[in-house]
Amino acid sequence: MALTWQQPLPPIYTELSDAELRLRIASAKETLADKLVILGHHYQQDAVVEFADFTGDSFELSRYAAAQKGIEYVIFCGVHFMAESADILTDQNVRVILPDLGAGCSMADMANLEQTIECWEQLKESCPDDLIVPITYMNSSAAIKAFVGEHGGAVCTSSNCRNVLEWALAGGEGSGSRLDGSAPDTSSLNPEPRTLNPRVKILFFPDQHLGRNTAYAMGYPLEKMVVWDPRQDLGGNSERAIRDATFILWKGHCSVHALFRPEHVDQVRIDHPNMKVIVHPECKWEVVQKADMAGSTAYIVKQVEAAPPGSEWAIGTEVHLVNRLKQQHPEQKIVVLSDCQCLCTTMFRIDLPHLCWTLENLVEGKVVNEIKVDADTRKWATVALERMLAIKGSGNPVGKQQPAANMVD
Ligand code: 13P
Ligand code: SF4
Repeated sequence: MALTWQQPLPPIYTELSDAELRLRIASAKETLADKLVILGHHYQQDAVVEFADFTGDSFELSRYAAAQKGIEYVIFCGVHFMAESADILTDQNVRVILPDLGAGCSMADMANLEQTIECWEQLKESCPDDLIVPITYMNSSAAIKAFVGEHGGAVCTSSNCRNVLEWALAGGEGSGSRLDGSAPDTSSLNPEPRTLNPRVKILFFPDQHLGRNTAYAMGYPLEKMVVWDPRQDLGGNSERAIRDATFILWKGHCSVHALFRPEHVDQVRIDHPNMKVIVHPECKWEVVQKADMAGSTAYIVKQVEAAPPGSEWAIGTEVHLVNRLKQQHPEQKIVVLSDCQCLCTTMFRIDLPHLCWTLENLVEGKVVNEIKVDADTRKWATVALERMLAIKGSGNPVGKQQPAANMVD
């Protein structure tokens, strides 16, 4: 989704003080009571998180949205692709609201359906005998999720990427992903993903870094991965390189996590020798390799919560989460890995005035900023999301391990 135009709020909402907005939000929430659930991603500002009924990473929030029964509205304090997923996973009559329509995700915008279809056609011509399983990160449009669902693949998040890739390398949904439309020869698929049939390939999008970091941690060397640049023929690769690759990584990235660089880790090692470096897998491979640990936002939260007093952390993820952890754990020393402002500006668009405006409209019976996925897209995107939710072992960290020779073809 390209950034969507958000209508200016009625002036009153920008004139009210934070204290007044808080009172009005609390009162509207009380009026709407059980009809409403407010979900808040970990990167939201504290003032918004205060009103969330549930806070989590994108995987936790999608599971939570799927579990809601009997409600009428979900206000999703996060970004557009998350609200779309919530709309897909909740009952048809539940109305999902994004308080500011400008809250998109630049990474999700790096892959569109037209480019994806073009890529798929080119892969079909280059590797006619291969079984290609498309996997998309949660940070993608509903249209991309639907494409993936229709072609035998699944969605993943940073919490369960490894589990989803293992499932995909074992053949994914099988028949749906055969490029020529015929059923795959499953007798040749090894049930052990680690010794997979060499003809299974993963098309992973839109975040090349999550794909690379996870595949590498599973034991695949970088030579088994190519980057697909949608602006170039064959994604900028030779046919040979594509045929030899196991992972075709879409050329997308998160502009916030791209701000963390290997030299930031080097500096922490010099300045704070006892500090552990923990980063999100949207960071570049070179950063993840230098870090001590890598995992989803939920994984980062769990590591800090479980650490003893006196622990020291340099955290490579969005600044609101890092600052919240810092406040919640004064017994530990917590810093942002880099000194730049690693702020997700689109997440930051969700604020008290927008939350108050959406809630007060709901009290008056008006639904503003509804996020609705059309029926066709919903059908296949649901398949891709439900496959993800059904894959066992979600929540494992990306981890870091050296490639094992027996894991690659
Ligand atoms: P999580 O899957 O860890 O919630 O990450 C979502 C996101 O947008 C990170 O940039
Ligand atoms: Fe998108 Fe990056 Fe913001 Fe996450 S932090 S929502 S990936 S731009």
